[in-house]
Amino acid sequence: MDFELKSLSPQQATRMVCDALLVLVPDAFAGKGERGALADLVTGAIKHGDLESGVAKMLACYRPTGFAAPRVLLLRVGDGSATSVRKAVLAGVASLKLPGVKKLGLVLSLFDAAPDAVRAAVQACADGSYVYTATKPSAKARALRQVILGVAQVSGAVRAGFEAGRALVAGVEFAKEWANRPANHATPSMLADAARKLGRQPNIKTEVLGPKQVEALGMGAFMAVARGSAEPLRFIVMQYSGGAKGAAPVVLVGKGITFDTGGISLKPAPEMDEMKFDMGGAASVLGTFAALAGLQPAINVVGLIPSCENMPDGMAVKPGDVVTSMSGQTIEILNTDAEGRLILCDALTYAARFKPRSVIDIATLTGACVIALGGVRSGLFSTRDDLAQALFQAGETVLDQCWRMPLDDEYAEGLKSNFADMGNVAGRAGGAITAAKFLQKFTAELPWAHLDIAGTAWKSGAAKGATGRPVSLLLQYLLDEAATDKTRPATRASAKKSRKTTGG
Ligand code: BES
Ligand code: MN
Ligand code: ZN
Repeated sequence: MDFELKSLSPQQATRMVCDALLVLVPDAFAGKGERGALADLVTGAIKHGDLESGVAKMLACYRPTGFAAPRVLLLRVGDGSATSVRKAVLAGVASLKLPGVKKLGLVLSLFDAAPDAVRAAVQACADGSYVYTATKPSAKARALRQVILGVAQVSGAVRAGFEAGRALVAGVEFAKEWANRPANHATPSMLADAARKLGRQPNIKTEVLGPKQVEALGMGAFMAVARGSAEPLRFIVMQYSGGAKGAAPVVLVGKGITFDTGGISLKPAPEMDEMKFDMGGAASVLGTFAALAGLQPAINVVGLIPSCENMPDGMAVKPGDVVTSMSGQTIEILNTDAEGRLILCDALTYAARFKPRSVIDIATLTGACVIALGGVRSGLFSTRDDLAQALFQAGETVLDQCWRMPLDDEYAEGLKSNFADMGNVAGRAGGAITAAKFLQKFTAELPWAHLDIAGTAWKSGAAKGATGRPVSLLLQYLLDEAATDKTRPATRASAKKSRKTTGG
């Protein structure tokens, strides 16, 4: 999808040649002093009670006089905040999912649209028109190809919001696409190939490790999960170098279980198909890299993706088996369905070698987190208040919210084992927290945070599909980090220079 931003007066909007014009009308719109076909249409509709106030109330007009566009949709955006704009544009774009609507004009000129609202509008256009087609040839592919956003005045901040939105669309759609693919179309090897492809983009490098290299690293916990499957495991290491050479990176670790049967602790049949989404964390890391490729912010980022299937088999790991993790700590695998933490713990140990400024793992980790927070907010766990605050705030900014959960040491009691340094489960109570406590044992002194996206990475039911969350949260956090890196004011400039000279 192609997006364009320009300054646009209401008069110019009426002359815009496009298949449909989506006009955002705030509750505060009075139309005083405004002239022309657009103002007349809106004022008339409001006066006659045909366009109610509120978010996403709309009036569809066909070939109204004075407009170049054949379809004009008046759309209420309430207070004009990012939240309202997103909700309204999602509904508006959904109602314009027509084969004839390829070029859309989005008019934000009737109010003072903040950069956040502009970004939200861009994202909602993409979200509302997304169609999965990879394994469904009969699906009507997205008709919408081009969106022209018109604002009253293009300021630097509005332009930045627009650019962030555009990069996010690329990242979120990348994540959705891979998370939606069924497990036989998204094996660990296929994910690795997708990561390699991203590695051809400016400032991105991808390296893929296979079973032999992972064994040499001593990742006994990761290998234990992979051994029940015929698909070979992959450990994907990506590096984005937009910051100064040698500047400590942010490390993102994504759970990449391409299918979770539960292993020998087999899951029940209903809804098991949804366990194809168990690589949602990995997809969000890939998506974040896709967004970084577009925006090229001045920061260094490492992406780590341990990826394998969790299958039952003659070779599969058994309940009670004890394995040695890369950290040297031994683990009694009491439940083979608690596999996410087993692949993540070795990746977290590996993360330390990058001497990171922060490490964030992203995982569809526990059903308990779905019970705790539902599909609205992701679970956020961190040992550091500043890091937790930064992630929380990033989520608020881009409407990809999370909520902090506790990490009291008492929650780790149940992880004790008579046969190993720890067990991999601790009973049903507080399951999302005990899972986080398990991961914490592998983060030593690192500034670490964990996002449990089990409830937010995909939707069930009729609208079943990946959401692309939390790509937006992660990218915003990285942009905030890039902007507030006061530790190296001098080298940030030189990093920019060197990026230019390397043709970045
Ligand atoms: N991938 C699942 C978590 C999950 C379940 C996410 C349902 C979304 C919806 C994870 O690997 C898992 O199976 N976790 C177990 C842990 C338990 C055995 C301690 C769970 O949540 O039931
Ligand atoms: Mn599981
Ligand atoms: Zn899982």
